[in-house]
Amino acid sequence: MIPDLVSYITRREGRKFRRLNSTIDESIINGDTLGSGQGPSLYVHIPFCRSLCPFCCFNRYLFREDLARRYFIDLKKELELYVQRGFTFSSIYFGGGTPTVLMDELLSFIEYLRSRCPVREISLETTPRELTVENRELLHKAGINRLSIGVQSFEESVLKTMGRDNGPADEVKKRLLMAEGHFDTLNVDFVFNFPSQTVAQFEADVAAFKELGVDQATFYPLMPSPHKKDALERKFNRVDNSREKRFYDVILREFYHDGYTASTAWCFSRGERMIDEYIIDYDDYIGIGSGSVSILRGNFYVNSFALERYHELTAANRLPIVGWRTLSKKENLRYYFLTKLFGMKLDTEALRRRFGGDTAGKLWAELAFFKAFKLISGDGTLRVTERGMYPVSVMMRDFFAALNTLREHCIEHQI
Ligand SMILES: C[S@@+](CC[C@H](N)C(=O)[O-])C[C@H]1O[C@@H](n2cnc3c(N)ncnc32)[C@H](O)[C@@H]1O
Ligand code: SF4
Repeated sequence: MIPDLVSYITRREGRKFRRLNSTIDESIINGDTLGSGQGPSLYVHIPFCRSLCPFCCFNRYLFREDLARRYFIDLKKELELYVQRGFTFSSIYFGGGTPTVLMDELLSFIEYLRSRCPVREISLETTPRELTVENRELLHKAGINRLSIGVQSFEESVLKTMGRDNGPADEVKKRLLMAEGHFDTLNVDFVFNFPSQTVAQFEADVAAFKELGVDQATFYPLMPSPHKKDALERKFNRVDNSREKRFYDVILREFYHDGYTASTAWCFSRGERMIDEYIIDYDDYIGIGSGSVSILRGNFYVNSFALERYHELTAANRLPIVGWRTLSKKENLRYYFLTKLFGMKLDTEALRRRFGGDTAGKLWAELAFFKAFKLISGDGTLRVTERGMYPVSVMMRDFFAALNTLREHCIEHQI
């Protein structure tokens, strides 16, 4: 009942993020007025992959070298537009797509980034196939702190239904061991509750991961966009969220209760590690690249998903923003509440500093509900309890699912 209720509310709130308009308030995009507080983090999207996984809802295109080379030039232009507006970034996250798809351009971009910003930490995603000794060395030299590998599953039959070819599982494991210890954090991504995936198969993935002794695992509940969901259901079984809790119970048992730190409701680490959730540690974040989204001072905006449009706008030295929404104070507060709880704690003093006055009062219904059902505990700093973890996971799933619907719309209409 609790997951259903929070799911309903989050889906309702998430839908608002899809109602965008094309009037862009560029005066907001000004780093000089951010004050002495922590500036935004930077997300850099590389939308190319060597093959496209049918379940994936991110903005991604089949790799073409000419387009990718042009894209990296555009990306530098977009970064420059932010630097000229007074922004400076120290915490960087490269996501995709597959950021390592064209290494010489990636390394040149990182060098450029370092020449323009006081970079402190970089997280970067790649695939098992691109996790080679050569890339490990190059990425290590480029100062990557956290490397995240999208494994999804070690089980051949699960990967097959996912339409994903990682190569033989033993080889993937060898590659992970080859990279372990070379970065501050090595993370492995898994997907759970894929149609036809059994809990036993997921348990086998978890056991294999733990045996490897890698630093960190992130478990994504399957979050398909509407058309991807239809396609999966035509091919396999229903995407059945009522099965999800059984998978999540495995995560709680094997990680939460076995000495791992819950960095988020989906990410479990050995000790304190860097996480990928730039949306948790930073109140504001800027996304650059085609199809990136940004949150800046209560405004949500999205970049063009269409590579041509992205290129035209950046080539003309214009920010490639195509959709904008100024969140109401309540929407803003709810978004803050969701992202902080996803990161396992909400500091009410920080909440007051950011939103002023009687902000906790404006969230009274949410706080009362979460406290009454013992989903959070504490006073100054509210912490998600074990009981609260699954409802928080459901909330984030539904919020991301709403974003995936937006992504699908923008990709299909080449916005
Ligand atoms: C955008 S991918 C980038 C990583 C890399 N391209 C790869 O696939 O190995 C980041 C992670 O998102 C997750 N992901 C992608 N599509 C998803 C979906 N529809 N539902 C849940 N998780 C998804 C996968 O676990 C993936 O590793
Ligand atoms: S899951 Fe990763 S490799 Fe597959 S299409 Fe999405 S971004 Fe590309």
